Amino acid sequence: MEKMPYQPGIERATSIGAPAAITTSDWRLSLPVLGGPNFILRELKAEDAPTLLSMLNTEEVARFISPPPTTIEGFEAFIAWTIRERVKGNHICFGVVPAGMTTAVGLFQLRALEAGFGSCEWGFALGSQFWGTGLFVDGARAVLNFGVDIVGAQRFEARAAVANGRGNGALRKIGAVQEGILRRSFLRNGQYHDQVLWSILAEDWRLQRIGQLLEPTH
Ligand SMILES: CC(C)(COP(=O)(O)OP(=O)(O)OC[C@H]1O[C@@H](n2cnc3c(N)ncnc32)[C@H](O)[C@@H]1OP(=O)(O)O)[C@@H](O)C(=O)NCCC(=O)NCCS
Repeated sequence: MEKMPYQPGIERATSIGAPAAITTSDWRLSLPVLGGPNFILRELKAEDAPTLLSMLNTEEVARFISPPPTTIEGFEAFIAWTIRERVKGNHICFGVVPAGMTTAVGLFQLRALEAGFGSCEWGFALGSQFWGTGLFVDGARAVLNFGVDIVGAQRFEARAAVANGRGNGALRKIGAVQEGILRRSFLRNGQYHDQVLWSILAEDWRLQRIGQLLEPTH
């Protein structure tokens, strides 16, 4: 996500109000564990803070996203915030834990853009040693399945700075559709960036995953 929605003191400004009845599960009570043999996606825990700090607070990862916390305490506060916002029905954050590890090396976030999560913004970041490993695609598929089937989201928006080749490549690869350019919409290090607005609709995703099932598995 080009903008991590969490900022210290943000809670009053971003609360989206009572969730609508469309949501079909109790994800507000606790997040399920998603994933497969190579990774799991689960709710963040305070113990993830040191790993997330070392994975996400690097120049190459943070270049085109809002600055992540810069201390372990800052990440602990962020993690506590994600849990409070999940309970309110505003925000869902999965930590990405590769097989063989116990702490999260990245995040997938979904932020409600309207009550009931009909439209949401999603975003993601992984430690750079996990780029190009397939973890993004596998994680994104699990998150989109969860968003469509459990949360009931109809539209997933993502924004990526035009200069963020990897972020845009990842979105294109997962089947997102480019809708337009948001001119000078993202401020980073004193410089405004144009962003690409991408979307995936639930109906597109359902069709796409039928296609995935039909793909040869070699
Ligand atoms: C975004 C992110 C999670 C994607 O994970 P990833 O493992 O790098 O993604 P993948 O390697 O599966 O896919 C990226 C694709 O972009 C392509 N790509 C890389 N650089 C590119 C460039 N400059 N221009 C176009 N495409 C590019 C890659 O080749 C790859 O496609 P391929 O697998 O068909 O070759 C990861 O790069 C990341 O954490 N980046 C930093 C945070 C961030 O920018 N988040 C996204 C904000 S929208």
